[in-house]
Amino acid sequence: MAAVEIKKNIFWVGAVDWNIRTFHGHTYSTNRGTTYNAYLIVDEKVTLVDAVLGPFAAEMLERIKEIIDPIRVDYIVVNHIETDHSGALPEIIKICPKAKLYGTAKCKEGLEKHYYGNWDFQVVKTGDTLKLGKRALTFIEAPMIHWPDSMFSYCGEEKLLLPNDAFGQHYAASERFDDETDGAVLMDEAAKYYGNILWPLSSVILRKIEEIKKMGIAIDMIAPSHGIIWRKDPMKIVNAYLSWTRNETRPKAVIVYESMWGATEKMARKITESLIDSKIAVKLFDVAVSDRSEIIRQMLDAKGFIFGSSTHDNGMLPAIAGFLQFYKGLKPKNRIAAAFGSYGWAGGAIKEIEDAIKESGAELAQSGLGVKYVPNADELKMCYEFGREFADKVRSSEPERIKNA
Ligand code: FEO
Repeated sequence: MAAVEIKKNIFWVGAVDWNIRTFHGHTYSTNRGTTYNAYLIVDEKVTLVDAVLGPFAAEMLERIKEIIDPIRVDYIVVNHIETDHSGALPEIIKICPKAKLYGTAKCKEGLEKHYYGNWDFQVVKTGDTLKLGKRALTFIEAPMIHWPDSMFSYCGEEKLLLPNDAFGQHYAASERFDDETDGAVLMDEAAKYYGNILWPLSSVILRKIEEIKKMGIAIDMIAPSHGIIWRKDPMKIVNAYLSWTRNETRPKAVIVYESMWGATEKMARKITESLIDSKIAVKLFDVAVSDRSEIIRQMLDAKGFIFGSSTHDNGMLPAIAGFLQFYKGLKPKNRIAAAFGSYGWAGGAIKEIEDAIKESGAELAQSGLGVKYVPNADELKMCYEFGREFADKVRSSEPERIKNA
């Protein structure tokens, strides 16, 4: 795949990682792979904005060589130190040792701890400008989007925002632009990315979007460092981010459970049936056989979560326990949740689930529903009623948002 000119003399020189299937350790399933997007601006000063994961350094250098000799790179802008964007830096700096690096103070600190390189580094702050020739880059610090070091770069002459992780997707594709690719898949991957990586940072992201809006800068292209570039309708992803940062939801419930011998599963299916009959959109997941990242993606726009587990050793089963540990870190706002499960002699799972719900910040919508051993016909009716009560609460809380929108 050749370098791609995204604006006159600005090139995508990144790499497509088609076969990566887990990311961030094993916290994120990249079922559609990912890309590491780096951009080369050819002006009086040749500038590389971000880099790629270490093993893709040679691929990026080959793309740069299609355009110029890499030794000509004058500046390297490091919007973010995380390894997926900085891993190739030692290799690149070997080839262009005179290149000067630009990034935040936290970036400098982080690069030193990652690579111990004695690199020529200029610390920049929000509003600082780097003149490249006909163009300039303006820097906007963006701490915690995604790490404390993160920043965005903006080229006013090209109306181009380079926001690194923000607005990205883990989506390997032969296409580079939103108007070339499947829009539904693109938005699905953008939502999955937001839900799994950025959800806990929602208030920070909302403030940053509002800050950039107040700056009044014109943007006609957003080129993130993962996935597809937004050129047809950059506001589509900005508006989606505004909705996600505000924790807007719809009448939808996600039920996540783990069952030892099938009794908790029977309960889950009856609760699901009840919600569907109540016209609430539902997604049901057996967490022991489901992809956690996909569950989180489905939770992003859902008003309600229902978690279930059989009791084992007076507590939850291990897969749901691991899931809830991850879920708590997402700190979802404006959500309701409830717990259910079967037990043999002493319970315990429901209390643990309810503790996790409270810790996450979601509102405990109703009392947990426990059933001894296997639910009989009357107990299945109780499950149905449990679902109906939850559906009423989902529905009654949604009009408020619509009214206030
Ligand atoms: Fe794509 Fe926070 O790294």
